Amino acid sequence: MEVVELNHPLIEHKLAILRDEKTGTKEFREIIGEIASLLCYEAMKDVKLKKVVVKTPLEKLTTGKLDEDKYAFVPILRAGMGMLDGVIKVVPNAKIGHIGMYRNEKTFEPVNYFFKVPKGIDKREVFLLDPMLATGGSACDAIELLKSKGVKKINFLCIIAAPEGLKLVTEKHPDVKIFCAHIDRELNENKYICPGLGDAGDRIFGTK
Ligand code: PRP
Ligand code: URA
Repeated sequence: MEVVELNHPLIEHKLAILRDEKTGTKEFREIIGEIASLLCYEAMKDVKLKKVVVKTPLEKLTTGKLDEDKYAFVPILRAGMGMLDGVIKVVPNAKIGHIGMYRNEKTFEPVNYFFKVPKGIDKREVFLLDPMLATGGSACDAIELLKSKGVKKINFLCIIAAPEGLKLVTEKHPDVKIFCAHIDRELNENKYICPGLGDAGDRIFGTK
């Protein structure tokens, strides 16, 4: 079981802008993408590279390159789509799957409405994307859907995580690594993360 929290003054700075209720859709979306890129760098810190020989303008050297065919990104709709641009900038040739899910507003249980992943997903390391890990219900259901397709290595990338969600996911799926920009204090009675940043999907897509 592994939970990595990005700990960096510039992340705190970016999060302060995201958290501010006065921040508009354009800036909110840009910063979600920016932090997603940084999470992707951190989550791929230990990937194995293939050996290549490169000729610089000065000399030849043996170095490493990423085998992009080994990875897939899977955003959880809608809000996870906000992170996609940021990670695709880092690994442009990764395949992309989609999981459609929303939380029932009364029970807070996730409802799955779409699931489409690339062929051969079981041979790829998957990076699940969702800015908010609240109760952890959506994350657990998404992980189970991927495991049912034979995926063996799963990472969960989020912007804000609640302790309650981290506990559920790490207990149910200790093999999944979680990368977050910040672990917040707690969930409120409506299962929103506090202090949080509000409804990520609505703020990314301007739907409120
Ligand atoms: C949000 C968020 C996660 C989920 C987290 O989605 O993006 O998917 O809630 O909550 P949980 O950890 O308690 O399951 P939401 O239902 O608001 O849908 P949206 O992305 O379409 O806005
Ligand atoms: N989903 C959100 O968008 N925000 C929260 O705080 C919790 C779930």
